Formats: sequence, C-alpha cells, structure tokens
Amino acid sequence: MSKSTADIRRAFLDFFAARGHQKVSSSSLVPGNDPTLLFTNAGMNQFKDVFLGSESRSYNKAVSSQRCVRAGGKHNDLENVGYTARHHTFFEMLGNFSFGDYFKADAIQYAWTFLTEELGLPKEKLLVTVYHEDDEAFDLWANTIGVPEEKIIRISTSDNFWSMGDTGPCGPCSEIFYDHGEHIWGGPPGSPEEDGDRFIEIWNLVFMQYNRQSNGDMLPLPKPSIDTGMGLERISAILQDVHSNYEIDIFVNLIEAAANITRASDKNDKSLRVIADHIRSCCFLICDGVLPSNEGRGYVLRRIIRRAVRHGNKLGANGVFFFRLVAALEVQMGEAYPELAANRKLLEKVLKTEEEQFSRTLERGLNILNEALANLSSKVVPGELVFRLYDTYGFPADLTNDIAREKELTIDEVGFEAAMAEQRKRAQQASQFDTDYNEQLKSDLVSEFTGYHSTSGTATVVELFKSGELVRNLNAGDEGIVVLDQTPFYAESGGQAGDVGLLETPAGNFIVKDTVKLNSAIAHKGIAKTTIKLGDVVEAKFDVENRQSTKINHSATHLMHEALKRVLGDHVNQKGSLVTAERLRFDFSHFEAVTADEIQLVEKLVNEQIRANHSLETKLMNLDDAKAAGAMALFGEKYEEDVRVVSMGDFSLELCGGTHVSQTGDIGLFKIVSESGIASGVRRIEAVTAEQALQLTQDYSEQLIEIASLIKSEPNAICGRIQQLIEHNKATEKELDKLKQQLASNAGADLLSQVYEVNGVKVLSANLKGVEPKVLRTMVDDFKNQLGSVVVVLGLGQDNKVSLIAGVTKDLVSKVKAGELVNYIAQQVGGKGGGRPDMAQAGGNQPDNLEAALASVKPWLETKL
Ligand code: ALA
Repeated sequence: MSKSTADIRRAFLDFFAARGHQKVSSSSLVPGNDPTLLFTNAGMNQFKDVFLGSESRSYNKAVSSQRCVRAGGKHNDLENVGYTARHHTFFEMLGNFSFGDYFKADAIQYAWTFLTEELGLPKEKLLVTVYHEDDEAFDLWANTIGVPEEKIIRISTSDNFWSMGDTGPCGPCSEIFYDHGEHIWGGPPGSPEEDGDRFIEIWNLVFMQYNRQSNGDMLPLPKPSIDTGMGLERISAILQDVHSNYEIDIFVNLIEAAANITRASDKNDKSLRVIADHIRSCCFLICDGVLPSNEGRGYVLRRIIRRAVRHGNKLGANGVFFFRLVAALEVQMGEAYPELAANRKLLEKVLKTEEEQFSRTLERGLNILNEALANLSSKVVPGELVFRLYDTYGFPADLTNDIAREKELTIDEVGFEAAMAEQRKRAQQASQFDTDYNEQLKSDLVSEFTGYHSTSGTATVVELFKSGELVRNLNAGDEGIVVLDQTPFYAESGGQAGDVGLLETPAGNFIVKDTVKLNSAIAHKGIAKTTIKLGDVVEAKFDVENRQSTKINHSATHLMHEALKRVLGDHVNQKGSLVTAERLRFDFSHFEAVTADEIQLVEKLVNEQIRANHSLETKLMNLDDAKAAGAMALFGEKYEEDVRVVSMGDFSLELCGGTHVSQTGDIGLFKIVSESGIASGVRRIEAVTAEQALQLTQDYSEQLIEIASLIKSEPNAICGRIQQLIEHNKATEKELDKLKQQLASNAGADLLSQVYEVNGVKVLSANLKGVEPKVLRTMVDDFKNQLGSVVVVLGLGQDNKVSLIAGVTKDLVSKVKAGELVNYIAQQVGGKGGGRPDMAQAGGNQPDNLEAALASVKPWLETKL
C-alpha cells in the first residue's frame, strides 16, 4: 500500500528517534543567526554552529523535517518551477544529524536500513555515489552493505563534496539514487545522460569534516559529524509509484483545489503546478514573518505571489483567487504545521491584498508586453523593455522571463542589468545628500557601558573626532565626538534613543546632545564649552530625568508589544521601534487598521500590567534557552550567544539590551495617541506614558468641555446633543431643497405663458432669475414632459457666469439638435458647449449679452423648422 507524505515524514522522525536522535522542530525559513543566507535551504542550517563547535546542545544526535525555500539568492529554482518534475520553491528536507557521535559507517547503515526495511524499497533499484577519493565510503557500501561494485560510482566533482556556502562546514558526500525504470530516459550519475529523469537522487549523506575558510583553506572540524538530507517530495513520489513530484498526494489535492478555484479545464496545465507550488512557499514565508515588500526577502515573496497570480490569470481565473488556496493547504499540511491554522486570517489577508494590488496593474503591463512582443523583430526581448515593465508596472523580471519563455523568446539579461545598474546609480545620487558623515567614522576602541546601574562616573577621553577626522583636542565652540574608555551614557540602539548630558572637565563642560555607537566604542556627540583633549579625565553625567522618561517609554513598549500579540494575534512582530523621552513609536506587522476597540483593549492590558507593579528582571541567558523560554526576538537579528533577557512578571519576556524602569508601576499611565499604516502590512502606533499620558487625557477632557459649551450641552451629554444637531441640520437642508424646488416650479408655471410657436412647433426660450443652476435640467425635463413636443432653451446669468441648457423632444431631433442650438447661443455669451441631440448644456461669461442671445433663438429656429 502506498504511503502518504505525512506517513513518510512521521516514519522518518520515529525511525531516528528510536535510535537515540532528538526530534528537533523545523527552524524558521528566515535564518535567525545568518545574515548571509536569504532563506533556510537545508536541514543543517540551524545546526551550523554546532558543527563548527561554537555552540553546544544537550544532545549529539538529531532528526528533523526542515522546511526549505530555494527562491532568490544563490539557490534559485523559481524559474524552473512548473517546467520540470522536481523543482520547487518550497520543499521539506528530512535529515538525521550527528554532532561528533557516529560517522560514516552508521550513517550509511541507517540510511540503507530505513530505505530498504522501513520503507521497503527494492535493493536492486538503488545505486550510490561516493567522492572519488573516499575509499572508506566505497568499502562500506561494497562490503558492509553489499551493494554490487558496479552500482557504486566514484564522482570527482563538487556534486559529491557538499558545502553550505563559500565558507563554513563541508565534507565529502555519498548520494543514494533511485532508478525509475528503463521506460524513462536518462543515465546513471556521472554519465553523459545523467540529467535525464531515470536516475533520481533521493538522499545525500554528508560526512562533515572541514570548515572552509574564505581563503579556501580547509580546517578540520573539532569532531567529524554527519548531515543528511532527503527530499520528502521525491521519496513520496517513489513510494506513491508516480514519476513526478507533482503527482504525489499533497500536490494532487492542491492542484485539484487550484483547478476548482481557477475553473481550469485541463488538470495537466503546468500553470496549476506553479500555483500549487507557490501557495506553499508563500504561506510558509508569511508564517515565518516575511511580508511582501520591495526589497530582500519581502521582494522574493512578492515575486512568487505575482508569478502565481499571473498563471491564475492565464488559466482564466475570475477575480482574486490565490488566497482561496490557503484553506486547501491547511487541509494538506495543517497537521504537521499547526502554524498554518494559527495564521489563517493573516495568510488570506496578505495574499488577497497583494493580489488585488497587482491585478490592477497586471492587465496594463500584459498589454504593453504583448504588443511589444508582437512587434519584435528578433527572438530576444530588449532589456530596456524588461526594466520598464519592472519599474513602471511592478513586473518582476522573472515574470517577464516566464512569459517570454512561453513564446520561445529569450531576454537580453545584459541590457536589463545595465538599466538596473543605471537606476541604482540614480538612487544613490539622490540619497547622497542625506548621508551622515558620522556613518563613515570608524573606531577600533571598546568602551565599557556602566549605565545600567550608575548615573555618573569618572572616565578618560580616548578618542576625539571633529568633522569626521581624528583630532587631539576640541576647542571651545567646536562640535565633535568624544569617546571615553567607560561611560554610563546609553548609546542609541534597539530603538532606544541615546542619552544626553554633560562631560565635566576641570576647565568646563562638553554638552552631550546624543550618544551613538561606533562599532564597539560609545561616541558622545555634542559641543565643547571649553578645550577638551585626549587623556583628559572627565566626570560623565547623563540627564537623569531624560533617561527616566526614556526608560519608562522603553518598558511600556515591551508591555505594548506583548499586548498587541494577545489582542491581534501571534503574527504581530516588531518591524521598527523608536523610544525617546517624549514618546514611543512602534511599527509592527498587521494587515488591517487596528480598530478603536482593539486599541482600547491594548491600553487596558498595558495599564493592568502597570498597576500590577511587577519588578523588572534582567538576566543573561543562553540564546537558545531564552528562545525556549518564549522570549520574543527579532527576525533575522543576529544575537550573541549570551543574551540579555528582560521580563515583567509573567506577562512579558523579551531579548533587549536597553534600559528599563525597576517596577512597572513607575510607568504610571499608558495612552495610545495614534494608529496608522506606513507600508503594506505594516502598522505604526505612537503612544505616551506618565506625565505626557496625563497631559494628553487632560487635553482631551478640556476639548470636551469646550465642545460642550459651544453646543450648549454637558460633557457627558454631548453625543446625544451632536446627534440632535446633525438631525436638525439634515431636516433643515431637506426643507430648503423643497422650497427651492417649489420656487423653480412656480417660475416654471409662469414660463408656460411665454411659450410661442415657430412653424407650428412649440418653443420656449427664457432668461431665468434667482434659481440655482442645478435645477435648470429638471425644469427642461419637466417642460418636455408637460408639452410633449417642444424645443426649450433656458438661460441663467449671474455672478459674471452664464448657464445654458437646451432640450429637444425626440420627435424633433431630426430637425433641431440641442447641442447645435446651445452652442449657437453660447458663442454669443462668450462660451461654447454641446451635448446630445435631445439635451445639451453650455456655459459663458457675458451675462449682459444673454437677453439678446436668447432673442436670436427664434430666427435661428425659423431656418431649421
Ligand atoms: N545538507 C545536505 C544537502 O542539502 C544534506 O544536500
């Protein structure tokens, strides 16, 4: 019986757990400690430092099913997805790991036992490769396992020497291949036909032995280790007796759902495969905190969404469709990944919003592209066109590439890159004006920060800068930077503003206006009131009140962060923070405006925690322990191994190097000032605390009292009173409208007496007074209805403006056109106009000529009727 993907995942984890391996959850797709890696792309990523020996764990054998994304960056499979049987943007990698415990012999034995006994794969269908120099691995396969020698292939290329990147852990590897059978074209690894689909690599066993340095040197690892990776989708295809990964259970069901949603008629359409693949990477990336944006990871996500939308569009999907697949994915993978259900609302919202935005420009962009492609004289799409589509219509280059490929065209990559480079240069020039010269400053010194507990301290001047240059002294009046060997001044970081204060020398002061970090040195920026020179001993004193207010706002930020998560959901993550003495500003991921009720709830929660008067505790902890304890950390932020963790009761636990109050009660009061959107999916809240919060509520109540007195009411009754005023106002306007209509119809009745005839046709041309221009049209309609067959022209001249309107009943339009008539008159009052044959309007600016112009209607009509 064939095994489901979920069964295989479970069987793998259980097999290795039964052999002493710790089950470790998949890490985030956003690598926590590795800014060099765009997305997690292998099971071993989260263990990199363990292999290198710089991190230790409580276990030395592990097993995981790791979610991976290979799109964007170095490993980019995006453009192949849909066109091959085995490329994905998202896939799961099953892996077992040994950190200095077992090595080659056991790794090989485990893999063989799992494949042939646990999964029951026929031995004769398997063949293996080893690194050409690795006699030990060859011998193990041949003599311990008993694989016939002709099925053990020595490979000398990098295919059998695996490295995570240009630097880091690496070693020779041995790969296990499955023979899908003679009926499929392809040859064994190392043969000229190896790229065919017959022999498929299913499992890579890496014998980690070295740490590759940037100069190419290979240093031995502290302990030889094992890293393996098996593509879950590939092994599932074999066990489910299908050839393409897209025919396994998960994909068949997702493709079915995609076909229903897009109403595609052909289930084999490759666009369905693209959509089924992309919904997986998009959902998991969003679950891991990535949101669509114009740079970095967010831009890759945006490209994947746009590619899916375009393929849906090709299939003829009606309206936005992609987000509807979130539910289908949850059915397929929700059991193994509970975060899909937990984030359901966010996933749908993000995808829907992005799709709506893109759909608006997709059609226009496609028209331009299709037109340009139709007129192409060669088989190459000009780079400049690809760039313009990207720049103006948000068409990522790979989308254009995809479309070009369908039409068997290629893209002028060089031209495109040149246009991009040109744009980057323009952007750089535009931003050069606001580069801060301090950003170019560098210091190799280290200043000790003493300000968690002290407010002042004696220190020595170790470095001075003026206008970006190192100097030996600053003179009175000079602006510059002072670096001390130790200082209680907090340097701006983690969103908390730098301290202000004084550096006292025996001769006078240096006024510190801001404090920032220059690498590991703490730089006091400000102005010298007297000469200050290298080696001077100073008394450094920060402004205690300013620091206290900043601390209050920082602690309140932590409480608010947690409260936002509790009220809005776990998807809330910090995207930016600014904490000053005056206020706090916090940017976070959330896809809709925070409602007034939610704001109140957040305020309520934070104020409850303030009143609970928790003591603040700071502890130095190992990063993993801190994360395991649930401490909030920022995505993609690189933390030291030992981190500072700030906790407030059992409410908030966060990694933070900033300064905080000693009791939450010190915050006094917390009040949100504003909530707004600053980018797609990112909201901003500004709030105040303590004295400022009191001031704000006092201002609000003062305004209420003032409003109450203006509308002659009491503060607690103003809503009812305002409601009353609004209703009264509405009733008055209605009454006024009625009166105006009445006035117009009275005027109309008078006008009826002015109807005359031209050759047996009723005509009315009148100069009105004292009516609103907007009633003219209704009056013309009324006359047409009442008189049945008539030509009407009404004019109104006031405030140097003329309004004209002409109406002709249907029976007469063959002889008289309202448009021509109104234009004839308008020309006599300094204007022009036109419209339909039965109703037309015009304006003018010579009211004095109106009477005479209207008098010309009769002779004009005599020539027509
Ligand atoms: N880290 C190895 C790979 O990704 C197992 O193939």
